[in-house]
Amino acid sequence: MRKALYTNMSGHRQANSMNEASMTETAPFSIHALELGPMENFVYLIEDSASGRAAVVDPAWEVPEVLALAKKRGLRITDILLTHSHHDHINGIEGVLQVCDAQLHLLKDEARFWGSYMDLPTLHHGGDHIRLGDTDIQVLHTPGHTPGSACYRIGDRLITGDTLFVFGCGRCDLRGGDAEQMFHTLKDMERDLPHSTIILPGHNYAEKTTSSFGEQVEGNPFMHFDDMGRFVRYRMFYHDKHRHGPYRSVRKGDAMPDNAN
Ligand SMILES: [Fe+2]
Repeated sequence: MRKALYTNMSGHRQANSMNEASMTETAPFSIHALELGPMENFVYLIEDSASGRAAVVDPAWEVPEVLALAKKRGLRITDILLTHSHHDHINGIEGVLQVCDAQLHLLKDEARFWGSYMDLPTLHHGGDHIRLGDTDIQVLHTPGHTPGSACYRIGDRLITGDTLFVFGCGRCDLRGGDAEQMFHTLKDMERDLPHSTIILPGHNYAEKTTSSFGEQVEGNPFMHFDDMGRFVRYRMFYHDKHRHGPYRSVRKGDAMPDNAN
């Protein structure tokens, strides 16, 4: 198990620290990160300041740590948001539901893919909004890693699950993965997201825990491809053989040689 950590609003890692977030006057929310389990998962707690409500994103592994953080901050966990249905992102759902009367949210496409979702989840489509007290959470449908993968946009933050990592992206070779869809998802994100957006990924695979989207457009090799065929080759065959973590920035043009197999 890795140390729990806390990511404040400016994105700096504070291992084993649970200090107060640096709230801005205008932000009705703060987002806390816990790194939990053997796979470097990030579990996020979205806090709505006015109502004291909280949403857990991808509850997994050491649920007591999530509950302790909510308790310490005086929060009621009312919602569970899933970025996708892989085991390392959902194995804490039951643990949360045992002590919290929380509503489960996921995309309809992911529920269909998962096939074993719980009774009465709230099923969404891309573009939907979830209200957490005064905090607006926009649901983005970002297929590629799984058919119903979601990202959650809260102000200038984007919780990206296994769609986009800092200087990486989710694999597409598991059941339900589709590298062509991932190519289009990343292109859509590049078209739609301000570069100032701060991404909060589903795993701690890079040299740092968060990044601006603009920095990803510049240095994330998966954002560098204009040709879908080359992107698919890079995602499916080249990347995992030639690149090792922790992921760092890659210069444009350096991701994969033209003659790579
Ligand atoms: Fe995953």
